[in-house]
Amino acid sequence: MTQPLLKIENVSKRFTRMPGLAERLVGRLTGGGKPVVVHALSDVSFDVARGEVVGIVGESGCGKSTLGRVVSGIYAPSDGRVVLDGKPVAHERGGNVEKLTTRVQMIHQDPFASLNPRMKVGETVAEGPRHHGIIPRGEVQARVRALIEKVGLEGAYADRLPHQFSGGQRQRIAIARALAMDPELLVLDEAVASLDVSIQAQVLNLFMELRRDLGLTALFISHDLSVVRHVCDRVAIMYLGRLVELAPADVLYSDPKHPYTRALFASVPTVGSGKREFEAIKGEIPSPINPPPGCAFHPRCPLAGPRCRVEVPKLAGAGASRTVACHLNDGGVELKDKAA
Ligand SMILES: Nc1ncnc2c1ncn2[C@@H]1O[C@H](COP(=O)(O)OP(=O)(O)OP(=O)(O)O)[C@@H](O)[C@H]1O
Ligand code: SF4
Ligand SMILES: [Mg+2]
Repeated sequence: MTQPLLKIENVSKRFTRMPGLAERLVGRLTGGGKPVVVHALSDVSFDVARGEVVGIVGESGCGKSTLGRVVSGIYAPSDGRVVLDGKPVAHERGGNVEKLTTRVQMIHQDPFASLNPRMKVGETVAEGPRHHGIIPRGEVQARVRALIEKVGLEGAYADRLPHQFSGGQRQRIAIARALAMDPELLVLDEAVASLDVSIQAQVLNLFMELRRDLGLTALFISHDLSVVRHVCDRVAIMYLGRLVELAPADVLYSDPKHPYTRALFASVPTVGSGKREFEAIKGEIPSPINPPPGCAFHPRCPLAGPRCRVEVPKLAGAGASRTVACHLNDGGVELKDKAA
């Protein structure tokens, strides 16, 4: 079997921050007010094969962007490790994170904020490869133009400033900038979410084309279930910093197993937008500062039993290359039967 390109091994990420106003008020009543620890990721493990696109889905605050940043080497994990092609992507020394790879590039949601407004876009695309010596000096100009054309814009646009472009065009430039680093893995964090639906389709088509031509591997973070189904080979469902289900997209969409995945998929399409985004599930999302014991989903799960309140379910195989973290999956008991 070929080695996976990316290995995420038992990754946890905790942030320590001072409490906000509401937390301070509660803290005063309970004698607290000390720094709080946010459990943004807890024991996340999965592999990504070369050329594969894996979707990351879950409600706001479940740790998707944190996972993207840990994979990109922007954050070092608190525990566990992220390995690209056999090498760690970052390490932490004296509290400072050192990114060890240029081969993972992240594309963010907001193409307006992610480009320097005072820099010609050609310079923006050239900046990274110039700094890291990825393209020989004499070839930079030609390569930048070729990249700008590759993402569907005219090469002469290299001399323009970001404000001269639309949102979709800016996101194309952000993609060109990422490609200029010759990446092996792209992390797209809600990369089309801020664009109009028709523009989203164009940018997604570009991504699919590039994927085919360049054999790209990607983590695709999105709230939009129809987009995820369209572009991803496998989909990872996250809840409160943990991976709860991971399966090939067709398997997951036709037969979601984890009660949380089922609740997400039971949501209705957003009226008028033509999009299929999930709606809030009954009950509040618990705080990642104080996650519930046992299965973090138990306070909202219609199938929760006594064991769910005390024991964290492990991610385990459930057929058809699918893994699920739910006690109902233990001992080969099919969730479908239980839920019926
Ligand atoms: N730098 C940080 N310092 C403290 N807490 C953080 C930091 N970054 C993220 N968090 C917290 O970690 C948790 C996970 O955040 P994250 O941004 O990864 O979620 P997300 O799934 O990307 O959400 P969204 O869908 O809203 O983008 C949240 O509770 C968030 O407030
Ligand atoms: S482990 Fe229990 S609480 Fe968690 S999803 Fe499964 S049935 Fe629900
Ligand atoms: Mg996010």
